[in-house]
Amino acid sequence: MKILFISDVHSNLHALEKVLEYIKNLDVDEIFCCGDIVGYNAFPSECLKIIRRNNIKSVMGNHDWAVTTGDTSGFNPYGVAGVEYSRKKLLKEEIEFLKRLPKNISFSRDDISFYVVHGSPRDNIFEYVFPNYPESLFNLFARMVDAEITVLGHTHIPMERIVDGKIFLNPGSVGQPRDSNSNASFMIFDTEDRTYKWYRVAYDVDSAADAIRKSGLPLFLAERLHIGL
Ligand SMILES: [Fe+2]
Repeated sequence: MKILFISDVHSNLHALEKVLEYIKNLDVDEIFCCGDIVGYNAFPSECLKIIRRNNIKSVMGNHDWAVTTGDTSGFNPYGVAGVEYSRKKLLKEEIEFLKRLPKNISFSRDDISFYVVHGSPRDNIFEYVFPNYPESLFNLFARMVDAEITVLGHTHIPMERIVDGKIFLNPGSVGQPRDSNSNASFMIFDTEDRTYKWYRVAYDVDSAADAIRKSGLPLFLAERLHIGL
């Protein structure tokens, strides 16, 4: 079967719609999201509706958490603005939905075990796992996780690290890529041949950025979409 992994949608409706349109021809059976459905961009409610309508199973990201708690300590001003905007735009029931998101999801398909989390195995919501982190840290994570495949988000940077027989993957970000590539990023895992592949899809960045400007969110949040930062 084919499993689509997305992450860090961050209220970017234009990017999310484009990704879901693109994968229509790819025979995807299931979709998981590594968190951060909301924050930063202009359409938190619209994106959450799409996530729910498509039965996309998501873990909780740090922005999802901040929107449910109102606690933005440790966030930069852009993050705070995105969280406050999302709290204004989301219905009470939608915030309740975010509150119920699990910190991690474990599952197996075709004898392959997966562990899905936003941050890290050690700190599910807040800890970043960057691709260039030392092997010793991945050794620690490999001991902490039973699953063969860990899929995580949070850094907005696609990643593959293989350590001690465990595979750590990041699909990259749909709604705010930060690897100097403005295209939406996602990954498809094929459990039949045990392969995984990243995809980059161009979307209407101009319209997404315009919506940010019109919404009163910080201009930098619009500018960064164009440069993939
Ligand atoms: Fe994020």
